[in-house]
Amino acid sequence: MNPELALLQPYPFEKLRVLLNGITPADKSYIALSVGEPKHDAPQFVLDALVENLRGVQNYPSTKGSEDLRQSIANWLCHRFELGNAEQLASAHILPVNGTREALFAIAQCVLDRTAKHKDVLMPNPFYQIYEGAVLLAGCKPAFYNISSDGDADINNITDEQFASCQLFYLCNPGNPTGSVLSQSALTRLIEKAQQHNFVIVSDECYSEIYRESAGAPTGLLQAAHAMGNTTYKHCLVFHSLSKRSNLPGMRSGFIAGDEVIVSQFLQYRTYHGCSMAPPVQHASAVAWRDEQHVQENRLAYDQKYNAVLKLLAPVMQVEKPDAGFYLWPSLPINDTEFTQKALSEENVALVPGSYLGREVNGINPGANHVRLALVAKMDECIEAAHRLVKILER
Ligand SMILES: Cc1ncc(COP(=O)(O)O)c(C=O)c1O
Repeated sequence: MNPELALLQPYPFEKLRVLLNGITPADKSYIALSVGEPKHDAPQFVLDALVENLRGVQNYPSTKGSEDLRQSIANWLCHRFELGNAEQLASAHILPVNGTREALFAIAQCVLDRTAKHKDVLMPNPFYQIYEGAVLLAGCKPAFYNISSDGDADINNITDEQFASCQLFYLCNPGNPTGSVLSQSALTRLIEKAQQHNFVIVSDECYSEIYRESAGAPTGLLQAAHAMGNTTYKHCLVFHSLSKRSNLPGMRSGFIAGDEVIVSQFLQYRTYHGCSMAPPVQHASAVAWRDEQHVQENRLAYDQKYNAVLKLLAPVMQVEKPDAGFYLWPSLPINDTEFTQKALSEENVALVPGSYLGREVNGINPGANHVRLALVAKMDECIEAAHRLVKILER
């Protein structure tokens, strides 16, 4: 076997299963705030487009994706992030991917040089664990930067020494689990560092459309690059998904966009890897990227849940409304794993302990004493879960 497989850590949900093994849940309805899987309805017109094009499975799809899909994505990118030329983007800067998860993994295999002197890949802590596994299997070394509710400060605290030894930089913006968003100036500075130290920025922007209306739409990495005159997006890649934006996690549809040279190398990698997107999914995705109304409705539904839930939780725990994403990331007066066990045994609510999403560096796990609450369930369930968590803390 590949010895690097032994370096992989158990996934947080596997650890959670072990933590909760043997606990009898309270005799109440089960409410899951643990998995970040959207539960709002998928848009009917996208499902119709999928079904209407089922015959597309009679053909092998191209890895580069159909003209229609790439143009639909390019138009969305240009409109949403104020980029220049949609035709140029569609022809050379975009590739469809089967959800961002596989692409966030695959890009490391394509970009990283395991024979280079510097093998570090900077990534947030806590984080989406795929980044770490991707880097370990590419023969390089995960290096962490802590994240907080102040995204700019997190990036600005990274030293030139850290940047100098880094080949690839994973950015999660908006952040999971913090929901913090970087300003355009922090993104510009990061791109300048990438140019100076010659590393690639992979910006995971899968939560970019789930923002609070009061906070406004987050700036994207390509937007910052374009605004500073980097119109070929050198050193920059963004990863977007329909999973959260359009409540389609099972359709496995996203795209990457950015640096033409990396995109073309990644296309070659993917041709061998054999991960082209099924034709009906390509068609339905093109339809989904063209519509904004369902995205706006989705956003408002999350806004309403945040308002209702925070009214209940804020008086009893240290918790902030994040600018984006669909998580809450409260810090607790008790141990996060103990609280997670109590949430199940006393109230039948599933959470994720913050420490399971982070790594201990110099004796400190920045996720410890936090829990992650995914506000994905319907409004009444989220409110009921909040009432139950309040009861635990009051007890
Ligand atoms: C930060 C982050 N990135 C990427 C993904 C993967 O999303 P998908 O593969 O559905 O596009 C997730 C899913 O939960 C996530 O939280």
